[in-house]
Amino acid sequence: MKFRFHTESRLKSCCQQAGILIPCLFIVFMLNRCTGHTTGPDDFTKWLPASIPDTVYLDPSNVYTGYKRELGRYLFYDNRLSVNNTRSCSSCHAQIFSFTDSYTRSSGAMGDLHQRNSRPLINLVYNRYLTAADSTLHFPETQMDGPLFNEHPPEMGARGHEQQIMDRFKNDSIYIALYAKAYPGEKDPVNWKNSKLAIATFIKTIISSDAPYDRYRRDSIQYPLPAPAIRGRQLFFSGKLKCYQCHGGNDFSTPLQTVQQRQPDFYFNTGLYNIDGKGGYPSYDRGLIDLTRKKEDEGKYRVPVLRNLLFTAPYYHDGSALTLEEVILGYEQGGRIVKNGPFAGDGRINPFKSPLVSGFSLTDTERRDLISFLYSLSDSVLINNKNYANPYR
Ligand code: HEC
Ligand code: HEC
Repeated sequence: MKFRFHTESRLKSCCQQAGILIPCLFIVFMLNRCTGHTTGPDDFTKWLPASIPDTVYLDPSNVYTGYKRELGRYLFYDNRLSVNNTRSCSSCHAQIFSFTDSYTRSSGAMGDLHQRNSRPLINLVYNRYLTAADSTLHFPETQMDGPLFNEHPPEMGARGHEQQIMDRFKNDSIYIALYAKAYPGEKDPVNWKNSKLAIATFIKTIISSDAPYDRYRRDSIQYPLPAPAIRGRQLFFSGKLKCYQCHGGNDFSTPLQTVQQRQPDFYFNTGLYNIDGKGGYPSYDRGLIDLTRKKEDEGKYRVPVLRNLLFTAPYYHDGSALTLEEVILGYEQGGRIVKNGPFAGDGRINPFKSPLVSGFSLTDTERRDLISFLYSLSDSVLINNKNYANPYR
């Protein structure tokens, strides 16, 4: 990039001297287009969906600049951020899968299995709680300490190797330039604090708002939804199915009662397991109870976003549903029945299950309609958006 800046300004002055400014400016313009990089602080407010004004970007503890985002994008895609050069954030959060990894559960730098299914890093700034069952995590800036430094299991395995990892970037001319632009005036800008702020800046800009359903809502004449999706939408918002009661708001992740009663209850038990008949979930992951130690929190998980489901299978906190049919069948039955294996049990009679998951019946056509609606929330513009792509490709 440094090289490019120099080339650009040299070209400009050379052109001016030669008095052939216009054709030369065209060359500079083409150079810019070909490299496809963001060169300077850009106006991020232009990307925000107009319907959701937000002040998060004005966060004084991590002020947004285009240079910071660009550094964050490089780091997000760089395997050198993990102890053994095998994992980057993008290993488990790949753009093509709406920033998930398509595995049931992710595996870390040492090959250990993570307890959870990877989550789509989209619209993070609009979601009040991060991860499936930790009500203390609200900001990417702090959540990131998990994947970077966790030891049980290690994800990127950076703990104990902090200096060694930063040295890789201190000795790389591309990064020296990126850090200097992102943190101008700092004597030693290549450090963990700055790296984390930059990655957070990048992932906070990953906004998904161009699904067929978004377009339809913006202009239903120009972007009509197919009839099955319209019918599915009616089902989703019906008193019979009650999906909208938990999956509300812009990302279908804000429970309705929260809005009405202003109570922060984002966590529900949907009856996925009932191993011992007393509401037991698999011992390696029991939901909110692992944090609060309250019995009634066993099996409670955050209501997830329902955007981009077309790209994010398998589903649930542990990836235990391979298809949307399976998910919907669970809701139809009023809880999931696990027939075989160590986790067998009847989720329908889980004592901690939300009363909103009470069961209903659907015809095959209705089930397909509901799935059509859910798929209409999938934004293929996002997965092709160059602003979020791997800068090394
Ligand atoms: C080994 C795989 C793996 C790596 C590497 C990884 N993540 Fe994750 N990430 C996950 C999993 C699994 C979850 C879901 C965790 C949970 O629900 O408890 C997750 C969740 C998240 C979330 C919360 C999303 C939400 O909607 O709640 C954020 C933010 C995040 N990761 C950012 C990052 C960043 C930034 C990096 C790089 C520094 C990174 N991750 C590296 C697997 C990974
Ligand atoms: C009581 C609140 C509640 C209701 C009602 C509800 N859900 Fe959910 N939904 C959740 C929670 C909580 C999860 C996460 C469960 C987990 O991962 O263990 C979830 C997960 C999902 C998922 C998986 C998403 C993913 O990325 O893993 C889909 C799809 C889904 N729900 C669709 C629906 C549909 C369709 C309806 C209506 C038939 C519905 N939900 C009704 C709370 C609810």
